[in-house]
Amino acid sequence: MAISYLNGEWQPIGEARISVLDRGFMFGDGVYEVIPVYGGHAFTLSRHLRRLEASLAEIKLKNPMTAADWTGLIDEAISRSGESTALIYIQVTRGVATRRDHVYPDVPPTVLVMVYSAPILERTEIRPYKLVTLEDFRWARGHIKTVSLIAAGMLKNEAISQGADDAILIREGFATESTSSNFFIVKDGVLITPPKSQLLLHGITRDVVVELARSNQLALQERDVKLAELAAADEIMITSSGHEIWPVATLNGEPVGNGAPGIMWKTLDALFQGYKQQQQQQQQ
Ligand code: PDD
Repeated sequence: MAISYLNGEWQPIGEARISVLDRGFMFGDGVYEVIPVYGGHAFTLSRHLRRLEASLAEIKLKNPMTAADWTGLIDEAISRSGESTALIYIQVTRGVATRRDHVYPDVPPTVLVMVYSAPILERTEIRPYKLVTLEDFRWARGHIKTVSLIAAGMLKNEAISQGADDAILIREGFATESTSSNFFIVKDGVLITPPKSQLLLHGITRDVVVELARSNQLALQERDVKLAELAAADEIMITSSGHEIWPVATLNGEPVGNGAPGIMWKTLDALFQGYKQQQQQQQQ
């Protein structure tokens, strides 16, 4: 059952309420995390909690809880939800101000945790995505996982209106990421992904893929990717907590490779599934 925790109260998600003066509502003044749950356990939790800490520090918002408290709260949320394969959503906003003012108020933060089922993570059907390229007009602090997501929403909806599933975003001729995932290309057997910078989210799934590639001696380059290289790639795949590693069939209407999931995707997906199982066994 989809469940939420809001500032100490547990309730069904549809019943949780915040004030109109909440800084998250007024200014998009908050940060979030999305964490997968497999076998009733949060996956790569400590990495997500570290990134949450980093996002909070970037917007000068004190972390309201220790990592141990977050872990306890998340475990309780999973257990109350009864979900096994799910997503956890955490949001921390600057809290409820007394009036609308750009200056940060000194008030207790709002803490929201939600758990909801995630059928896509069951991986029963993996339909390779159609992507288009769009200009990355988001702000220049993409490494902060902020809830101010209107630009990402505009771009995702533009991609859908063009008949695609999502977009790869291009800034000054180079691809940064997708609207809610990172991406990798494969060229002549080499896996390539843009390096971490302030222009893209430092995805946890991206990190896991990079580590798996390195520890399995796959050729990997973290370097800038030109728009022309995307179009000429043998494979493209996107990575996120909500999609794991997902293959791409077409880019701007043209097939990527032969249009079917490629050998590198199959190899990485198998490694990723193995890593998931290993993590679950350690948590039991
Ligand atoms: N999105 N890039 C962007 C812009 C993202 O929003 C996300 C995650 C990622 C991938 O990060 P990770 O591997 O840590 O999930 C990259 C989440 C899933 C979302 O907004 O729903």
